[in-house]
Amino acid sequence: MKRIYLDYTATTPMDKRVVQAMVPFFTDTFGNGSSIHSFGREAKAALETARESIASLIGARPSELLFMSGGTESDNSALRGIASAHSGIGKKHLIISSIEHHAVLHTAKFLEQEGFEVTLLPVDAKGYVSPDELTRAITDKTLLVSIIHANNEIGSTQDLKAIAEIVHAAGALFHTDAVQSFGKIPLDVSESGVDLASFTAHKIYGPKGIGALYIRRGLEFQPTFHGGSQERNRRPGTESVPLAVGFAKAAELASQEMKEELERLAGLNGLLRSRISNEIAGAVFNSPVDRAIPNILSVSLNSDEIEIDGDALIINFDLEGIAVTSGSACSSGSLQPSHVIKALGRNDSTTRATVRFSFGRFTSEEDIHIAADAFVRIVNRIGKRKKFSSAVS
Ligand SMILES: Cc1ncc(COP(=O)(O)O)c(C=O)c1O
Repeated sequence: MKRIYLDYTATTPMDKRVVQAMVPFFTDTFGNGSSIHSFGREAKAALETARESIASLIGARPSELLFMSGGTESDNSALRGIASAHSGIGKKHLIISSIEHHAVLHTAKFLEQEGFEVTLLPVDAKGYVSPDELTRAITDKTLLVSIIHANNEIGSTQDLKAIAEIVHAAGALFHTDAVQSFGKIPLDVSESGVDLASFTAHKIYGPKGIGALYIRRGLEFQPTFHGGSQERNRRPGTESVPLAVGFAKAAELASQEMKEELERLAGLNGLLRSRISNEIAGAVFNSPVDRAIPNILSVSLNSDEIEIDGDALIINFDLEGIAVTSGSACSSGSLQPSHVIKALGRNDSTTRATVRFSFGRFTSEEDIHIAADAFVRIVNRIGKRKKFSSAVS
């Protein structure tokens, strides 16, 4: 049985070109970047080259980019680092969207326990934050607004520039979790006006265990950890040069191949979407068409039309050799229905009956057809149609 991986949003296989670029930095150029001898200087030079390369791809200065262990640390550090650096100014209001990744959502909950007031901004049925809602929610007590750029469960993207204007007009700061958009759609931190942005390498065919936080120059920021003076005293710990080199290589390749890949993935997305809408009655799409990253297609089965067990759905795909998930990797496995799908206005049963297909560099048209065929078979096998629904023939 051919195994098909359609969970690129959870993580991606490393591109062999990235692995090749990293190898010498495990064995030959292995020094500690903080050492002053030649081994250390070589490591430091490689680290700074990687930083410059990533910074140039997002319109940042190298000094504005801190390497971290991944998106989770970056999101945590952004929220906590800003909260503690500005603790004395009497601004204790935080706004996040209702479709944030748990790395932001749970950090906001932590800050709530520390005395912050947290506003959860709703999204519309397509997963977009409304600038008007934001304008209504923001006050002179708002310190930080954190809104995800491309959502990891449905792919909707937000208009960062419009949001940044509202946030700055109110005297607040703006962080975006750009983990899923980075390397897939254009993103320029200066142009978009964000103050902080989070990135990770493993969603773009790079290694796991490295990410970055962009912090606009001049912004006060408190490190979460304490230790050495690495990363301009903002993130202590010996830097991983091989991971940084791999991150940079992955980002360069993603940038070079972005235009072509965007078109190809949009084609695959359209193909899967049309097969599902033609062949599965009761399928409702959670991913919008107009403003979204093209590598995610999230579909639910409307509980008014069909009764189906969400876990059984995913397990049946797995039995057919197809790796998909119901929502974010972190929330699947827990019994809670996805907060993202619910935020679109779906009821609990429909939310549970969700499949997220996400594809990427190594996905072919044939893979999409195999997945669509399997979806039709599985729904017919385990779904119970409600009385008045009409199956598509
Ligand atoms: C939107 C988003 N933010 C943050 C993260 C966490 O990133 P990492 O796995 O690098 O910690 C993920 C990963 O699933 C994500 O999709």
